[in-house]
Amino acid sequence: MTPRIKSTGKISLHELAAMKQRGEKIAVVTAYDAPSGRIADAAGLDIVLVGDSAAMTVLGHESTVPVTVDEMIMLTRAVTRGAVRPLVVADMPFGSFQISDEVALTNAVRFIKEGGADGVKLEGAGTTLSRVAALVDGGIPVVGHIGLTPQSATMLGGYKPQGRTATEARRLHADALALEAAGCFALVIEAVPEPVAAHITAALRIPTIGIGSGASCDGQVLVWHDVLGLTSGHVPRFVKQYADLGTAALAALEAYVADVRASRFPEIKHTYPMVDGEAARLPSGTTAAASRGRSSD
Ligand code: KIV
Repeated sequence: MTPRIKSTGKISLHELAAMKQRGEKIAVVTAYDAPSGRIADAAGLDIVLVGDSAAMTVLGHESTVPVTVDEMIMLTRAVTRGAVRPLVVADMPFGSFQISDEVALTNAVRFIKEGGADGVKLEGAGTTLSRVAALVDGGIPVVGHIGLTPQSATMLGGYKPQGRTATEARRLHADALALEAAGCFALVIEAVPEPVAAHITAALRIPTIGIGSGASCDGQVLVWHDVLGLTSGHVPRFVKQYADLGTAALAALEAYVADVRASRFPEIKHTYPMVDGEAARLPSGTTAAASRGRSSD
């Protein structure tokens, strides 16, 4: 009898490759905590990326550079508690893989064992190629990332689109092929003109996940705060905002403050009654408050 393998329901690398073959688009969003992971799962996302964009979106830094491995692992652990079906990929932050293959592997193992991630993402090509090969050799699924790679924004002359000349486009194309050969199972292409991303997508067997790189990529990724209208300040032109939760949250909290100030909140229905007859046993003068007070539950 053929042994039966129990499915966990988790989307597999094989499934992602098959989606590219079938021409089915792959939907990816970033997330940084358990409730967001749960919502992304319920919404049918295929991959949840715990991006190092967390440095800016949730930790308030000016760039992605300061976020640490420990901070990223904590966020990854939280996301994996919420996202069950989607593949959870953790971004390896600046400094966690640049030094050597050994350092990269040590940190990547932490993302898998402590963070519960299914895979990791590394920015760049060049020395990153040998890191990717070392991680894949160590059994860790890796997503590559080319084009605008925010960890090296200073080297790239700022947060600017990449691959706009034929020379740059050829280099990106070569980098993409090299990352596939090194063992990446998917490739993020950020802020690259559509024809260049389309050319790379057609040349690769692995799926490409675009952000600001047009509709020809095999999938799309957006940052949670951008999609839901929670970003303050500059929003890149490639973002489509699907909700305005920032405005909704502000209105809700203003209403809460007004209710607290005017003693409209809490109402009786938000409080716990005392056990019958117990209020009468309190010292006089405390009865009214006590009859509304919280019981020990
Ligand atoms: O950190 C991040 O959120 C990312 C995506 C934008 C691809 O790298």
